[in-house]
Amino acid sequence: MTILVTGGAGFIGSNFVLDWLAQSSEPVINLDKLTYAGNLENLASLQGNPNHIFVQGDLGDRELVDRLQAEHRPRAVLNFAAESHVDRSIHGPEDFIQTNILGTFRLLESVRAYWSALSADDKATFRFLHVSTDEVYGTLSKEDPPFAEDHRYEPNSPYSASKAA
Ligand SMILES: NC(=O)c1ccc[n+]([C@@H]2O[C@H](COP(=O)([O-])OP(=O)(O)OC[C@H]3O[C@@H](n4cnc5c(N)ncnc54)[C@H](O)[C@@H]3O)[C@@H](O)[C@H]2O)c1
Repeated sequence: MTILVTGGAGFIGSNFVLDWLAQSSEPVINLDKLTYAGNLENLASLQGNPNHIFVQGDLGDRELVDRLQAEHRPRAVLNFAAESHVDRSIHGPEDFIQTNILGTFRLLESVRAYWSALSADDKATFRFLHVSTDEVYGTLSKEDPPFAEDHRYEPNSPYSASKAA
């Protein structure tokens, strides 16, 4: 058994990978493009750990993701990879459209193709976890009740709009 994690050199993804491997012997394929936000230093303590397989690449690279799934047969995909900084999205939204919308779409399509060829049992237990953000619901003031998942979408930056997409 294996899991495929994207964005595992970033802030949240690297903490997930460290935590996972501290608790489990199930290998992690860690696919990360290493943009300005990715940092292998976050994973330095995993050097030499055979259960951490790092691959530098783009979540929207269909050929690469197809190949990683065929080779490692993951039972779950966890998508942490994203352009994630609101201010950068206001100054230059294009990377946000590329990664958060198109890249995520291509990842979903690749995983759907892989999932479609699984046995009925493996299909039933397979999971795709997409990490979103509360910012798709807009902004809360101090007095507001917390957002719930059925709250109306109200993204108000290119970042949150791309995550909503
Ligand atoms: N940090 C927060 O406060 C917060 C809050 C809510 C939701 N989120 C979401 O959680 C997830 C992780 O956030 P984070 O703070 O760890 O982000 P981060 O910016 O620290 O890390 C993102 C990682 O994704 C990688 N990446 C970027 N584009 C890629 C691509 N095209 N292909 C492969 N890898 C790519 C980067 O190299 C980096 O390692 C994101 O989806 C983000 O939207 C973050």
